[in-house]
Amino acid sequence: MYDVLQKINTRPRPFEFYTAEILWTDEHISRQMLAFHLSDDTDLASRKKAFIDKSVEWMTTRFDIGKNTRIADFGCGPGLYSTRLAEKGAEVTGIDFSERSIDYARKAAEEKQLNIDYIHQDYLEFKSDRKFDLITMIYCDLCPLSPWQRKVMLGKFRDLLDDEGFVVLDVCSLNTFNQKNETATYGRKLLDGFWSSEDYYGFLNTFKYEEEKVILDKYTIIEKSRTREIYNWIQCFSRESIRKEFEGSGLQIIEFYSDVAGTPYRDDSTEIAIVAKKA
Ligand SMILES: C[S@@+](CC[C@H](N)C(=O)[O-])C[C@H]1O[C@@H](n2cnc3c(N)ncnc32)[C@H](O)[C@@H]1O
Repeated sequence: MYDVLQKINTRPRPFEFYTAEILWTDEHISRQMLAFHLSDDTDLASRKKAFIDKSVEWMTTRFDIGKNTRIADFGCGPGLYSTRLAEKGAEVTGIDFSERSIDYARKAAEEKQLNIDYIHQDYLEFKSDRKFDLITMIYCDLCPLSPWQRKVMLGKFRDLLDDEGFVVLDVCSLNTFNQKNETATYGRKLLDGFWSSEDYYGFLNTFKYEEEKVILDKYTIIEKSRTREIYNWIQCFSRESIRKEFEGSGLQIIEFYSDVAGTPYRDDSTEIAIVAKKA
């Protein structure tokens, strides 16, 4: 018992394990994630509808989106942005490894008679010879990735971008890092049965890595017949650190905002949104 508890409470090295697929593709968890995406009561998986509408209106004006604008939406989920962008006339490609979300997005496109190219794939493995005018990765999706994975993604963005194209994405800021505390909690059916339809005990250990500005929510889910560890990493950024990462991949940040709806940048914002171009 001591050894089990010791393992649960052990702090791994930053980004030592990547388990995003459990969070987004597990049969039980992905069903609840889709419900969160579609719910206007929670910001857990997607932001609320009013924000998404505002964000798409801002992007449409800022990037002059219209007929023939080629957009790649990485981590598109159920297509809440992709659908709206396609309704503006854009040619949209959405990439996501959640089959449940991609199925939902495809059905929504069919119902609205929108021609959206939805690709069910791990975006770290996405390859294409096509070029895009706009690449989006919305809701801090760069933050769970390790430095090496982020380098892969940013290199990909650079290669996929038209010479005049833009990248727009958001990341967690250092305010997110500073507001979080280390904790260790547990509960039966932790998060009201979110992790499994079976009975389980769930442990949540939150670790902070001061030097790297990384947060880890580590979940250990113990069922009668299996134990799973889910690592939810969040890399937090300053404007300088995100700028440096982009520059290291041949991209240049040209604008900072507080969110992907074009809200002017504020030092107290928990997120930083950026617009980048090829360097
Ligand atoms: C926080 S949600 C945001 C969804 C969407 N951008 C939005 O704001 O409504 C993150 C999305 O990224 C997807 N995702 C996470 N890691 C991925 C990976 N390695 N490859 C493909 N999709 C991934 C998840 O399935 C999920 O749909």
